[in-house]
Amino acid sequence: MKIEVIEKNRVLFNSSKKNFEIHPLWLRERANNSNLVDQLTEQRIYDPSTLDKSIKIKKANLKEDSLNIEFTDGISSKFKISELCKELDSEKMKKGPVEEKILWDAKLNYRPTSKFNKDFESKDTFEMLKQFYKYGFVIITKVPTKDNYIVNFANSLGAIRPTNFGVFFNVKSIPNYNDLAYTPRHLYPHTDNPYRKPVPCIQLLHCIENQVSGGLSTLVDGFAVANYLKKNFRESFDILTTTKVRFRFIDKDVILENWGELIELDENKNIKHIRFNTKVDYVPHLHKENLEKFYSARKKMGELCCSKNFEIKFKLMPGDLLMMDNYRTLHGRTAYDASEGMRHLQGCYIDYDSSEGKLLHLIRKFE
Ligand SMILES: [Fe+2]
Repeated sequence: MKIEVIEKNRVLFNSSKKNFEIHPLWLRERANNSNLVDQLTEQRIYDPSTLDKSIKIKKANLKEDSLNIEFTDGISSKFKISELCKELDSEKMKKGPVEEKILWDAKLNYRPTSKFNKDFESKDTFEMLKQFYKYGFVIITKVPTKDNYIVNFANSLGAIRPTNFGVFFNVKSIPNYNDLAYTPRHLYPHTDNPYRKPVPCIQLLHCIENQVSGGLSTLVDGFAVANYLKKNFRESFDILTTTKVRFRFIDKDVILENWGELIELDENKNIKHIRFNTKVDYVPHLHKENLEKFYSARKKMGELCCSKNFEIKFKLMPGDLLMMDNYRTLHGRTAYDASEGMRHLQGCYIDYDSSEGKLLHLIRKFE
């Protein structure tokens, strides 16, 4: 990938995938002179739509990692070639700052784990976030269990997202529950809260006490299941990616509703968002044939998620904090006997602003 100047005033971008001339206005908008861009915030201090659309490059030359340009409106500016190349590589830009995802199934013999470090500017946090983005979950060990530390943890990454369950919630068996999570029942693999607008991006679950023999945590890589469906049960994949379903939560104080596909694709047909929560989904009354296709596809997806091929199980120990991508990773638990002792987890939500914002910052710091 490189930048080239020809005829003294034309700037070209060349890579193995594409070659093109960079538009002068595109470059002019990126001029970061102190009279154009606030140097503290890197925000423009003028409206770029007022620039002359027919602006041209008067002179351009390359020197080491710099591209120097004089524009026809009298502005001269210096551009970092490495930064221009990064931005012009649109495929990489769209993937975001994170490494490639590693899809996994029950054969995953490595549990992405990270040791807690209370310094969230540390390399430990950097490594922890990279694992989270690769695998869709990470277990942080030895996180302090006193004084609702989960709130501190979440706010140190970014900002906690309060919901009607509170700033954080206690997952334990209680008599007057408003969600099956607050019972000792088996919970099938699911993603949380598909009925919210927007759906929370990340769930944190922190184990405070676990004295029961059951209550194992379960996880499934929803992207891996979706890919498997795409390859082996195409009709099921198609109906699940094109049928918008209503999700609903109801209690005495609130009714929450949102719609979405069980497998949502992005504009390039890549898997973007898994919504799988059969406790709270309501498919609209489609034509008989489509309804039947949907029911068998949802059944197939549920079977795969609960199967030995895709589901992993492990016991969370006090201090373990499980951080899960709620758009990718399904979670559940096996049933337990509450008379054996206390099983107490604390949970909360954060959004991608927290994880991605922190990761981008740590990339800037360490790479
Ligand atoms: Fe849940």
